[in-house]
Amino acid sequence: MSPGARREVLGEPAPAREMDPAPLAPEEAEEAGLRPRTLREFVGQGQLVEHLRIVLEAAVQRGQPVDHLLFAGPPGLGKTSLAGIAAAELGVGLRVTSGPVLARAGDLASLLTDRQEGDVLFIDEIHRMHRSVEEILYPAMEDAKLDFLIGKGPTARSIRLDLPHFTLVGATTRTGLVSSPLRDRFGFVGRLDLYAVEDLEAIVLRSARILGVEIEREGATEIAGRSRGTPRIANRLLRRVRDFVEVRGNGVITGETARRGLELFGIDALGLDKVDRAILDALCRRFGGRPVGLTTLAQCVGEETDTLEDAYEPFLLQQGLIQRTPRGRVATQRAWAHLGLVAEEPALF
Ligand SMILES: Nc1ncnc2c1ncn2[C@@H]1O[C@H](COP(=O)(O)OP(=O)(O)O)[C@@H](O)[C@H]1O
Ligand SMILES: [Mg+2]
Repeated sequence: MSPGARREVLGEPAPAREMDPAPLAPEEAEEAGLRPRTLREFVGQGQLVEHLRIVLEAAVQRGQPVDHLLFAGPPGLGKTSLAGIAAAELGVGLRVTSGPVLARAGDLASLLTDRQEGDVLFIDEIHRMHRSVEEILYPAMEDAKLDFLIGKGPTARSIRLDLPHFTLVGATTRTGLVSSPLRDRFGFVGRLDLYAVEDLEAIVLRSARILGVEIEREGATEIAGRSRGTPRIANRLLRRVRDFVEVRGNGVITGETARRGLELFGIDALGLDKVDRAILDALCRRFGGRPVGLTTLAQCVGEETDTLEDAYEPFLLQQGLIQRTPRGRVATQRAWAHLGLVAEEPALF
């Protein structure tokens, strides 16, 4: 068990990663090196970035802590990166924790009291925070106060403690999962969309430069096109193709070597992974084109319904491979064609 995990079990506050770095596995360390540190380095999400820049600059000009920020979107699109960027742009400290780790109200209280004025507290997966912890957060977010209950029963009394002002940055895979009283307390909600191929291309080229890998533009295009609209996947595919060209090629990523490398690792032309394919396969083969409810579909592919909805559906919908209908999910003609099948009756298109 890592020291961090042990502390979580004991109910002590989660260690802040920035101030107490745990040793990272080599790939994780490499990934951390690829993270954009400033808004300028952050590729894509044009409108969100523009709005965020205004919010941050205005706060800096006024010399006040910035409003609480919530970032929502599928995994791997840059929510954690934006939390770091917000702290860096504001020139303040950053503390990192996550909803599931904050098991007790006391965990949050100690994180909130042990801070410098204006610091950023980042809570990842904020929708998974316990209700009792969430309630501590409301007065903290609104008035920088901490309410404590001392004693029990009729003699119990509540005391208020002043906290240093702070900015809460929350991340969630879906805003709909965040309770509305909590959601209402964020002054800015940024939704991240799947990235366009050109943006992913720029990300791959940037990452290759940082990793010191030689890459031609067509190589970057090839990797970008199979990244499911997701920078984290683009970086992962880049590393696999790098392995391939180092072992089987001359170390240069070209369109051709990227294609061969990606094929070798079983990444198909659209970049669908095992679960994506299992979803399409269930819809087409197993249910023969009939609409399928989310829960049934999740059981079929062995995933949680939330994971299916947050991590898989957005891309399949964006690619026009599935459709949501009132009676359930259906595969489209494109999905049938992608699996090399002919649509059966009674398909709904
Ligand atoms: N806009 C971006 N520009 C460049 N790289 C990005 C961008 N967004 C994400 N990345 C890369 O993808 C990785 C995953 O991003 P992260 O912020 O951890 O996503 P999330 O927290 O939404 O799951 C980062 O380490 C970073 O290298
Ligand atoms: Mg994250």
